[in-house]
Amino acid sequence: MTLLEGSKVRDAILAELRPRVEAVASSGRPPGLAVVLVGGDPASAIYVRNKVKACRDLGIHSVHAAPPEATTTEELLAIVAGLSASEEIDGILVQMPLPKHIDERRVLLSVPPGKDVDCFHPLNVGNLVSNAAGPRACTPSGVMEMLRRYDIPVAGKRAVVVGRSDIVGKPMALMLLHANATVTICHSRTAGLEDECRRADILVAAIGRPAFIRGSFIKPGAVVIDVGINRIVDRAEAGRIFAADSERLARFDEKGSLVTGDVHPLEVAHAAAFTPVPGGVGPLTIAMLMANTVASAEKRCSA
Ligand code: GUN
Repeated sequence: MTLLEGSKVRDAILAELRPRVEAVASSGRPPGLAVVLVGGDPASAIYVRNKVKACRDLGIHSVHAAPPEATTTEELLAIVAGLSASEEIDGILVQMPLPKHIDERRVLLSVPPGKDVDCFHPLNVGNLVSNAAGPRACTPSGVMEMLRRYDIPVAGKRAVVVGRSDIVGKPMALMLLHANATVTICHSRTAGLEDECRRADILVAAIGRPAFIRGSFIKPGAVVIDVGINRIVDRAEAGRIFAADSERLARFDEKGSLVTGDVHPLEVAHAAAFTPVPGGVGPLTIAMLMANTVASAEKRCSA
């Protein structure tokens, strides 16, 4: 079984972006990314910090707006409007999820499609659906890069995507379809989920439930892509999942938590290839965000 290592693919992507960032910078000013994080959700704060750090490492100018949890929709719209008008900013990312009182759809509609590096704007979603040029959602496009750079064929393969979110499941299914896979989308209401999964040559798990995909869901020789990032804090749950892995349980006892994917990591030995969590798909999301930001800046330069 091949472990698909996100950090290697990420490094290759970033190395290719570096000269492109320099070319944009030498034509006037570097690419610029604005990241907006409303409130203090600790997981989101870590993601945002990593995004800002990736920008710094690559020479991308970054702006970090951190309005408080109580920010109103109107106030957030005003922040986005300011960034939309800014000459220094090529990409705007509003970190999800937003607090419940904020009208998320209005906010996402207010990001100009040309600066929408998440591919959340309906115009860009439409471009994805019709396979027209434009930004693509970062996590699923990272998965496509992983498949491409590990020479894993997609055309003609049976792909099953478990999960139908706007951020991962739906765009993932469309990208696999455009790469000529035969695609099935499964979700919490799918009848016979295990059988559907077992037919997959390429199985993508994006459901947000720790170790949900068991060995019996996986066809021998399948390529298994685990998009889940689940933090387990309950010792009993950790014990159930990792009963056969005393090393990992010892690590849980040390830290009081552990991160695991949607696929049971101890039951994938019969797969042909697997993206571990952490270390698989995760590192690619930020690399693709950088790629979308650079592409947006290049469009500005050539305009
Ligand atoms: N929250 C979790 N993933 C993402 C993402 O890709 N983009 C944004 N904006 N928020 C997220």
